[in-house]
Amino acid sequence: MKEDIRRLLEEYGEEILESEEFQKAYQQKHHKIMTVADHSLGVAIISLKICRLLEKLHIDIHERELIISALCHDLGILGRDEKYKNNLECCNQHPRDSIDIVRSLTGEENRRVEDSIRRHMWPLTLHPPKYREGFILTAADKISSTMERMGKSPAAGVSYKKKKRPVKTPERKLPLPGGGKPSEKE
Ligand SMILES: [Fe+2]
Ligand SMILES: [Fe+2]
Repeated sequence: MKEDIRRLLEEYGEEILESEEFQKAYQQKHHKIMTVADHSLGVAIISLKICRLLEKLHIDIHERELIISALCHDLGILGRDEKYKNNLECCNQHPRDSIDIVRSLTGEENRRVEDSIRRHMWPLTLHPPKYREGFILTAADKISSTMERMGKSPAAGVSYKKKKRPVKTPERKLPLPGGGKPSEKE
């Protein structure tokens, strides 16, 4: 992955990549062999590659909003088996749940981000995105999903999974020989 893509991901996505929700996304499978986190990173990376192509055509894109949308577009799907009755409900509801999460992580309501996430399932849903960033997100989502189903991850080698710290067990005091208290003289 090119260095500028990694830098942009970390610059604009830090609060998301570091969040508990994104770390939980490493626990949930998505598209058979991926996790929600790997998929989200793949979508963000492909989105940025599309941006680079559009730059050559002098088409400006809000990269911060695009990265945030890509990293969060599927976070609402976490816990899907407990939350949704069936795939149809999941398909309709997870973008709305992702919007709740992006608001809580960024502390803002951004119409470009929210519209892009709300409509990322288009054309499965009726209304197309309103903004360029939304069209890029829907395209990147489909490309990434297709690659993942073929066993290729656009985010191969890129991970923000935090290592679990070993749990410290409290030191046990060994009983003194003879079972007595330590002498006060000592
Ligand atoms: Fe989705
Ligand atoms: Fe997705």
